[in-house]
Amino acid sequence: MRQILVTGGAGFIGSNFVHHLLQHTDASVIVLDKLTYAASRAALEEVPADRVRLVVGDVAEEAVVQGLVAGLTGPDDAVVHFAAESHNDNSLRDPSPFVTTNIVGTFVLLEAVRRHDVRLHHISTDEVYGDLELDDPAKFTESTAYRPSSPYSATKAGADHLVRAWQRSFGVRATISNCSNNYGPWQHVEKFIPRQITNVLRGDRPKVYGAGANVRDWIHTGDHSSAVLAILEHGTIGATYLIGADGERSNLEVVRAILRLRDRSEDEIDFVTDRAGHDLRYAIDATRLRTELGWEPAYPDFDAGLADTVRWYAEHEGWWGPAKDGVESAYAARGQ
Ligand code: NAD
Ligand code: TYD
Repeated sequence: MRQILVTGGAGFIGSNFVHHLLQHTDASVIVLDKLTYAASRAALEEVPADRVRLVVGDVAEEAVVQGLVAGLTGPDDAVVHFAAESHNDNSLRDPSPFVTTNIVGTFVLLEAVRRHDVRLHHISTDEVYGDLELDDPAKFTESTAYRPSSPYSATKAGADHLVRAWQRSFGVRATISNCSNNYGPWQHVEKFIPRQITNVLRGDRPKVYGAGANVRDWIHTGDHSSAVLAILEHGTIGATYLIGADGERSNLEVVRAILRLRDRSEDEIDFVTDRAGHDLRYAIDATRLRTELGWEPAYPDFDAGLADTVRWYAEHEGWWGPAKDGVESAYAARGQ
């Protein structure tokens, strides 16, 4: 049976991809995850034990990674690499785990897939391209120059460069995708959309950095998963694909939409201390993905996806509730 090793498969997007693989392929899945604060076992609770095996371990540890990759001996076996430290604000306080997991972890994985000649798909972010002006008519494309702003995006950029170098110099069979901001179920409450949804659900006010003018290009995590599977199955080795669903919204527009969905006044917003080095705008041109691979998002309407997500968080307070107070007091200590 075909085997796919999914690093970071207990995280927000990785777990969604595991479910996507179970639904759309007959592969068996090995999840390698360190189970950091960002992981959630609950997101994998319903998976069949005969198709998914969870290995708790560190992607930066050579022995565990070599051992798992050595077992991928089938012609269509592959690694999909989601594991990362993923939150910009955390990278401003302590960049160290970002360097270790995002750069060293990717290096360790590359050495393993090189040694055992295993296909790799590397998950990255549009944040490697830096930011755009609000009125810039151009969006990010596969040929945009790298210009990362934060320790998080710089470490993701470093990882992408390693993947390209291993592909070109050693012939590693790799593809890369750079996706825009994801939203959907199981996203940690430290991130923007879940933080604001859960604030509103608890009767608190959304907390917006600066004036809320920063723009992000939102995509439902299910659409990220379907794009990654399309690239894994049909992508050109050595190619990079940008993933996005034309979901540009300012942060202010997003929080107002959340407030409206819960029948609250659109003015009930706290404007808080801005993020250092805050990227102004991200926007993805996903033409290559759409034309070459025929990919289309299942959630083209951000407002409908957001409404579903608000409903999901309303029904899953038992999951996010325990983390919420700690996250909020850490933000409050920084004036955010
Ligand atoms: P997440 O923080 O929710 O999950 C990361 C997962 O990786 C967690 O389960 C964590 O335990 C695991 N992990 C962390 N360090 C590890 C290590 N050293 N070894 C093994 N496992 C480790 O992140 P996410 O939002 O699901 O992001 C997944 C990937 O997608 C990342 O590579 C991220 O850069 C990329 N990405 C995210 C977004 C987004 O909007 N969230 C957008 C584009 C790309
Ligand atoms: P975030 O979810 O951290 O994603 P990223 O930094 O990768 O884009 O933040 C999304 C946007 O929301 C970003 O412009 C920062 C902003 N933001 C707030 O305004 N308030 C918040 O409480 C958080 C966490 C983020």
